[in-house]
Amino acid sequence: MGLNTVYKAKSFDLSGLTGISDETLAMHFKLYEGYVTNTNLLNQQIAEMISGGQLDATKTAAFSEIRRRYGFEYNGMVLHEYYFGNMKKQGTVDANKDSAFYKSAEESFGSYDVWKADFVATGKMRGVGWAATYQDPSNGALSNHWINLHETGNVAGYTPILIMDVWEHAFIKDYAPADRPKYIEAFFSNIDWDAVSGRLQDTAGSASAK
Ligand SMILES: [Fe+2]
Repeated sequence: MGLNTVYKAKSFDLSGLTGISDETLAMHFKLYEGYVTNTNLLNQQIAEMISGGQLDATKTAAFSEIRRRYGFEYNGMVLHEYYFGNMKKQGTVDANKDSAFYKSAEESFGSYDVWKADFVATGKMRGVGWAATYQDPSNGALSNHWINLHETGNVAGYTPILIMDVWEHAFIKDYAPADRPKYIEAFFSNIDWDAVSGRLQDTAGSASAK
């Protein structure tokens, strides 16, 4: 994001999901919009601090704090867009066996089921964050990652393929904190697998990418 860039919150038509209520989604969209607002706000503050062409030495600490928060808010904005973007009404629990994603998961993990078990186990980890399947742009391989908060654990340059929010705000209106596995099951019944496969990039090492 350049200092002149202003982001706009996107809208997602997701009402009527299975096991994730419209009430949860409405609250979650508001939280997402907060990340967009704060990303823009911090960007503006940085622009102001640097407007003379250099940073006033008395503002170094303040600048550092804003820059750190910027990573939190910016990743919070982007991850939510991937998350909402990989769900849809009447999604299907598992990827179709003929899909590019299924084949990629098989290639990278030995089987789709092993990929899924690994992804779900990642999502059940204690802590606040996200489960993510990323694709390595150099060879097309998929790997699963735990993202702490929003900004720790993302792999630079990798392509987000499937993103699952496991912060409690993603399900607290529908499930108790200890019932995160039920939310994960619900998430899986709403996945837009076409969107997921569509994120795969063609790479030299991957025969299965679309
Ligand atoms: Fe969230």
